[in-house]
Amino acid sequence: MMKIFENRESAVRSYCRVWPKIFDRAAGSWLFDEGGRAYLDFFTGASALNYGHNNPAIKRALLDYLAGDRVIHSLDMYTVAKRDFLTAFDELILQPRELNYRVQFPGPAGTNAVEAALKLARKTTGRTEVISFTGAFHGMTLGALAVTRNSFHRGGAGVPLTHAIPVPFGCRLDGDAPGSPGIERLLQDSDAGLDRVAAVIVETVQGEGGINVASVEWLSDLAELCQRHGILLIVDDVQMGCGRTGPFFSFETAGIKPDIVCLSKSISGYGLPLALTLIRPDLDVWKPGEHNGTFRGINPAFVTGAAALHLYWRDKVLEDGTLAKGQRVAAALTAITRSVPGTPMQPRGRGLARGLAFENGELARKVSSAAFERGLLVETAGSKDEVIKLLPPLTATDTEIDQGLALLADAVQTVC
Ligand SMILES: Cc1ncc(COP(=O)(O)O)c(C=O)c1O
Repeated sequence: MMKIFENRESAVRSYCRVWPKIFDRAAGSWLFDEGGRAYLDFFTGASALNYGHNNPAIKRALLDYLAGDRVIHSLDMYTVAKRDFLTAFDELILQPRELNYRVQFPGPAGTNAVEAALKLARKTTGRTEVISFTGAFHGMTLGALAVTRNSFHRGGAGVPLTHAIPVPFGCRLDGDAPGSPGIERLLQDSDAGLDRVAAVIVETVQGEGGINVASVEWLSDLAELCQRHGILLIVDDVQMGCGRTGPFFSFETAGIKPDIVCLSKSISGYGLPLALTLIRPDLDVWKPGEHNGTFRGINPAFVTGAAALHLYWRDKVLEDGTLAKGQRVAAALTAITRSVPGTPMQPRGRGLARGLAFENGELARKVSSAAFERGLLVETAGSKDEVIKLLPPLTATDTEIDQGLALLADAVQTVC
């Protein structure tokens, strides 16, 4: 029954190897395979489904739009759906947070948002280099891959990945950190050529890197350092934005205002492809059409995106719920670490981006597959796949959260 995939689909396929079932239906926090078995989804399309699968209110908006023969594809022409989305984003997200950004629709994926951010940072500063952090993941197109630090993914590039400077995540910004000089000293060292630095790109919580949380102090020091040196700060909020850590933008907690922000994954609210690059207005130096693409915002994604904003971002109910559920997950992860004293484990995370780090990838992978056997989807992350990553839907009920954590606890007990 899987033959067609094995014979026809490229060897590059990966998640299907970890979860070798054929999935068919999905609702809320649940995925169902074609045999009808239910799986609790704590993977949520790597945070592309923050509001759950087939969220009924969002689906209604989409079905009404489709039924009315409204415009589906329109490149970057003006449409009613795009107007409604931009208005909702302006009124519910930007204005209440006193954020003033131009919105670019760079193409459908997170990597498109990053690519546009990097191009614009270089274009507007006239400099070439971009600082990124160990453990960073920014996407698979060549510009984004150059600032992605994972050596396995970099290996697929086929050309030298250049104009990116790696710096340890969470490193000292001044002085010297163990093993490496702080960014400040690198910047002052003219031999390093860092006068050519256009931007720093950072995830406030590294998702693919293994749920590595940057402290708010570090983020605000980084923003201050960038400002002092005329370097642009790009926050890649592709995975941690749209409420994953609690507030809509993950950087709100640090009280910073990045120059450029990348959003994708859950911005359409429904798993449809949509990405935004948010640009400080004076940096919006693009010439019309200079960066383009056929799929720069399909209208169904604008419709579901606007519906999600109206549903969840008019008040703080979702945000507060995410923080409370995050605490619930954190407490359960701590209990799991105590339940198997012989196996070192480290819980980490913020909001509903949570991780349980093991000493090696083999152990974490075994836990992930034991969880799957029990009906729970959790993926592994980190440079050695050593972290079990939990990204439950923000709309999951407490009962579902507890159910998933119980399945995980059982998987850990069995494996360890
Ligand atoms: C922080 C971050 N940036 C960029 C990307 C790339 O997004 P996409 O896979 O949609 O190209 C990802 C994907 O996981 C991500 O987590």
